[in-house]
Amino acid sequence: MTERTKFVFDPIAPHYDRCNHLFSFGLDRRWREALVRAACPQLNEDVLDICTGTGDVVFDVLRYSPARKVTGIDLSEPMIHLAQEKQILLGSRKWMRQARLCWKTADIMSAGLADGGYDLATCAFGIRNIADRSKAFHELNRLLRPNGRLAILEFSLPSNPLVRLVYRFYLQILMPVFGRAVTGRRDALRYLSKSIVHWHTSVDFRQELSAAGFNEIRSKALTLGIVTLWLARKDDQRPYGS
Ligand SMILES: C[S@@+](CC[C@H](N)C(=O)[O-])C[C@H]1O[C@@H](n2cnc3c(N)ncnc32)[C@H](O)[C@@H]1O
Repeated sequence: MTERTKFVFDPIAPHYDRCNHLFSFGLDRRWREALVRAACPQLNEDVLDICTGTGDVVFDVLRYSPARKVTGIDLSEPMIHLAQEKQILLGSRKWMRQARLCWKTADIMSAGLADGGYDLATCAFGIRNIADRSKAFHELNRLLRPNGRLAILEFSLPSNPLVRLVYRFYLQILMPVFGRAVTGRRDALRYLSKSIVHWHTSVDFRQELSAAGFNEIRSKALTLGIVTLWLARKDDQRPYGS
């Protein structure tokens, strides 16, 4: 699966940001901002952003919160390379000064990060791509400190049947066609739209988080339910491995 994920994301990395902004009509920026505001990173907290891609959540953590220590991890080298280029471009911004940023190219399942190293873990639009989510959630639980928080953004399908129908037409018919025009790669965008539908119809996210040792699980639909924001806390009564 790791190889397949790299196969999907490595080639689209140069187009990734443009596609995101284009296909979401710029809403992706607002969704990440909502994630950061809800997760509420504090000064001197250690924040881990998994599936960081080109690092937008990492930069939003610095932009919209007082947190200064952030690690972004992704298995795609081209994505991490673009994140590092952005860091250089944004280097002169006030909110970037004193930031302690760390980028890591690795699979979150085997990144070799220490137990309890983070107060907050975030993931935007990445968890859907991880085949063994149960393992990933247990790993995140291990990486979080007592009372650590988890904040996840993921695509979903609107609950209103009419809106859902229109959205599915956009997702499954229009987006792959536009995607091909922008990236020259129809397959990658097809994979993305297929995985969104599969994810929504077959995954019990709340149950999976609970089984991996998280509690206080809350969700909030954003933009008519196109995206769902999930928040959870590490359950210290059920520590990792119990
Ligand atoms: C849809 S992108 C999301 C990027 C970014 N978080 C954003 O907000 O746009 C998903 C990313 O997850 C990464 N990814 C998928 N599986 C991973 C894994 N097991 N470990 C680390 N990164 C992974 C991919 O390489 C890709 O860059």
